[in-house]
Amino acid sequence: MARIAVIPGDGAGIEVAKEGVAVLELLAKARGLPLSFESFDFGAERYLKTGVALPPGQIETFRKDYDAILFGAVGDPRVKDNAHAREILLGLRFGLDLYVNFRPCRLLADRLSPLKDKGTKEIDFVVFRENTEGQYNGVGGIFKKGTPDEIAISEEINTRKGVERIIRAAFGWAKKHGKKRVAMADKSNAIPAHELWGRTFREVAAEFPEMEAKHFYVDNLAMQLVLKPELFDVIVTTNLFGDILTDLGAALSGGLGIAASANLNPDSTPLFEPVHGSAPDIAGKGLVNPCAMFLTSALMLAELGHEAEARLLEQAVQRTVAEGKTTRDLGGTLSTAEVSAEVMRHLKAAL
Ligand code: NAI
Ligand code: MG
Repeated sequence: MARIAVIPGDGAGIEVAKEGVAVLELLAKARGLPLSFESFDFGAERYLKTGVALPPGQIETFRKDYDAILFGAVGDPRVKDNAHAREILLGLRFGLDLYVNFRPCRLLADRLSPLKDKGTKEIDFVVFRENTEGQYNGVGGIFKKGTPDEIAISEEINTRKGVERIIRAAFGWAKKHGKKRVAMADKSNAIPAHELWGRTFREVAAEFPEMEAKHFYVDNLAMQLVLKPELFDVIVTTNLFGDILTDLGAALSGGLGIAASANLNPDSTPLFEPVHGSAPDIAGKGLVNPCAMFLTSALMLAELGHEAEARLLEQAVQRTVAEGKTTRDLGGTLSTAEVSAEVMRHLKAAL
């Protein structure tokens, strides 16, 4: 039995987690998948009441006793600086050493393309974002704050081990999925330390001679993604650049309402989350698009070895979107629950 920890979090996260689990339970029951779900109330409400974001020992428990974490989103305007959100999400990503942030960017329907003349054929790539180092390590600080001599320093960490393992993951995925091109983005022309990325990329690429490995400066890659998205199958990059490029990728593929992600390490407990946040502007009104969570759930199913069911769920989402049965963000008029019902209807028809 695969034990899945569900952390709905805050706002929109709570709404989409409910729908995600309902769809997964439907699939699990129909196909006899051995999945069990346990919910954890980590989020703003608990943090405001108890002062604790993530209980001590929790990360180790997840690592040892669970097979996957399904995460909604965290963030609440009542919590100053979103301290709880950082502690929970970055705590889990770093604590579980989930070094791969995997984000597929695939346009679901031509009419959702923000680019003239680029449709589902052209916009279909995945990003491997480094997830445990780079700029997002908190090393640095502010000296002489508030004075005319103020200095703010933020250190970027790139380790050989960290760079190599994310690049290797990208090539490994490309090979497994029959992709032929891997692009790497850094900024070694302005940041000398990024030479480590280029060198490591060339070394790992040499082990995959059948693959076309191409280096880009990140600014050029951002431009090419908009002009010629069809050039890309797999992109591997740093934590910071990956954060930015994947929001661009989400926009190219139909918006945050459908953007899915996985945080992975083959030796740890993976965490799956929609790319969007807690959407306080629309949370609690039935306006949140649950499709990002469904596609995220499909990533989880695939990772747990249920490839066929993952494809079924993806297809159900694709059909629902193709029929225009969507929430407002994709131009429709349906509520969160109504979209969920449509996806379940397609799913049942396919089972
Ligand atoms: P956000 O992703 O929550 O919202 C950005 C915009 O997209 C909003 O207009 C929102 O209404 C819309 N949107 C987001 N998800 C949607 C969905 N499923 N369906 C339809 N529309 C959707 O990002 P924002 O506003 O920057 O942050 C809000 C809170 O979420 C903050 O507290 C932030 O720290 C947190 N956050 C948490 C993340 C996580 O848990 N992984 C990721 C990003 C933000
Ligand atoms: Mg982001």
